[in-house]
Amino acid sequence: MKITFLGHASLQIEFADHTILVDPFISGNPKMNGEITINSLKPDYILVTHAHQDHILDVAEIAKNSGATIVSNYEIATYYQNMGLTAHPMNHGGNWNFDFGSVKYVNAIHTSSFPDGTYGGQPGGFIISIADKTVYIAGDTALTMDMKLIPLSFKLDLAVLPIGDNFTMGIDDAVIAADFVECDTILGYHYDTFGYIEIDPEEARSAFKKGSKTLHLLAIGEAITI
Ligand code: NI
Ligand code: MN
Repeated sequence: MKITFLGHASLQIEFADHTILVDPFISGNPKMNGEITINSLKPDYILVTHAHQDHILDVAEIAKNSGATIVSNYEIATYYQNMGLTAHPMNHGGNWNFDFGSVKYVNAIHTSSFPDGTYGGQPGGFIISIADKTVYIAGDTALTMDMKLIPLSFKLDLAVLPIGDNFTMGIDDAVIAADFVECDTILGYHYDTFGYIEIDPEEARSAFKKGSKTLHLLAIGEAITI
C-alpha cells in the first residue's frame, strides 16, 4: 500500500490498480506549488472524514472528473448524491468491504458542517484494510478514549494523526493517541498549512521518539509504502 501526502490532510492511497483519495484540499492549499493538480488525480474512491472546507474543497470536482465514488457519513454522502454524484453512505462503527479492501468509519471528536452551513453529520476517521495492511486515518480529532477500542479489533501498520494543535490534537496528545491505538509508526498531518497550526517539526519528531515511536513528516507529493 503506497500512501502519498498531498498536503494538509489530503492523502492518496494506491494498491494494485486501485486509487483512493482522502479529504482532497488541493486547489485552496496555500502551501501547494503546483506539484499536484486536481486534473492529475484519477481516484476510484474519495473518502471524506468530515465536511469542513479544508477536507472537502475539491471533492465534487474530482468526483465529477473521475467518476469516483465518495465514501463518507450519511449526511455528507447524501449531500453529494443530491449533486448527482455517486456516494456510499456509512456511519460510525460500520464496516464495508469495497473492491479494494475494507473500510470502517470510526469516532472522532470534532465538528462537521459544510462551508454553506449544511449539517455534515458527525465527523469521523477511517480504518482501511487492504491485503494484509491496515492504516488508521484519524481525521480531525481530539485525543479520545475511543481510540483504545481500535487495537481490540485491528493491528495497525500505520496511524495517520493530526498534530497541528488548535483545531485538533497537538503533538503531545498525538503521542498518547499513538499509544492508545498501539501503533509505533505515525504519519503526521494537518499542520503548517496556515497560521493556527504551525509546528516545529524537530520538536514533533523528538516527542514521538521519546515515546519510542517514529513520526514521518512528508513533503507534498512524497510517499511511504507499508
Ligand atoms: Ni475540521
Ligand atoms: Mn481540518
